Amino acid sequence: MIYLDNAATSWPKPPAVIQAVADFIKRGCANPGRSAHAMARMADDAVMHTREILAGFFNISNPLRIVFMPNTTYALNAAIHGIINPGDHVVTTMMEHNSVLRPLSTLEKAGTIRLDFIEPDRFGRITIQSIKKAVTKSTSVFCMTLSSNVTGAVMPVAEAGRHCRANGVLFLVDSAQGAGAIPVDVENMCIDILAFSGHKGLLGLQGAGGLYVRDNVAVRPIVQGGTGSFSDSLEQPDMLPDALESGTLNVPGIVGLGKGVQYIIDTGISAIFLKKQRLLRMLMEGIDKESNITVYSPPPESNSGILAFNIADMDSSEVAYILDKKFGICVRSGLHCAPLAHRSLGTRDSGIVRISPGFFNDENEIDLTVKAIQGIARGTYR
Ligand SMILES: Cc1ncc(COP(=O)(O)O)c(C=O)c1O
Repeated sequence: MIYLDNAATSWPKPPAVIQAVADFIKRGCANPGRSAHAMARMADDAVMHTREILAGFFNISNPLRIVFMPNTTYALNAAIHGIINPGDHVVTTMMEHNSVLRPLSTLEKAGTIRLDFIEPDRFGRITIQSIKKAVTKSTSVFCMTLSSNVTGAVMPVAEAGRHCRANGVLFLVDSAQGAGAIPVDVENMCIDILAFSGHKGLLGLQGAGGLYVRDNVAVRPIVQGGTGSFSDSLEQPDMLPDALESGTLNVPGIVGLGKGVQYIIDTGISAIFLKKQRLLRMLMEGIDKESNITVYSPPPESNSGILAFNIADMDSSEVAYILDKKFGICVRSGLHCAPLAHRSLGTRDSGIVRISPGFFNDENEIDLTVKAIQGIARGTYR
């Protein structure tokens, strides 16, 4: 089997991640922040350790501004519903995932916000010029993805952040795609709120992601409950991380996430980006000769690691089915939970075949994949 679906979730995980999770469960998996005994303190330390690793990785000065949540979808909903006020003007892009589009669209339909969308170019790229046009001093929140989950296009996050900061606009970034391959520096990029996923480019497990909230930015909790702190009070604590971290955490997942990010730091994020670029270039050059293939992804230099394409008028799911059944190659097809991106790219009916190599794929696997795609495109694969 050749796994090329790392944009959905990364696989395999570094051995150190698997080892750390197994060790933690074996040594004692107590509930952090609830009891004061030795095993609970160990769990507390493990959670804090991952907060510190993430803080270093994203250049966050105070690790306690990082809140753990089950996934990016939860984090984005917590951010959107926690910061938006009636009457706000919110801007986002056509390239967002449904975890941004659906909560924003719900608020728009309820008449709570005014919502504007920025159009991409034919590779799903959003330009800084179009951001400057749409995001003005009267905008309350601008929400943008770090990189498109459909085409891999890397967005101009640093320039957008500086524009937002200069105009008093709250900047919310969805880093589910791209984090782990593209450096994210919340200070330099002027990011006020960052949603992250543990199980994709950060090489951790499913079920552990979260949110960073900058100092002096208040996010109202959408979930209230036990935090292990101020237990005699009926009110939700207002300090972070407790305010947004009710309920028992996924501690094994958080331990794995810490190890995944440590692996990226030790390997070097630029080494990871360069490897993905190399594999992507091989794929792109390999299928470039096929006149009946349409490519929707930008070149590897401005791409977080995705090749999006279609073959003639074949449905994307048919191509993915053949790759899976005939060649044992795992890719994703269809609409990728980003309906407006497909409207912009003109692929609402066909969907798109998405190939997303990871750091652990090798050139031989890519070579076999290119040959398989060429066989399908030429009708000679049987
Ligand atoms: C850009 C983007 N945002 C958000 C999400 C949601 O992530 P999760 O499924 O981990 O909640 C995804 C998942 O694919 C994504 O690609």
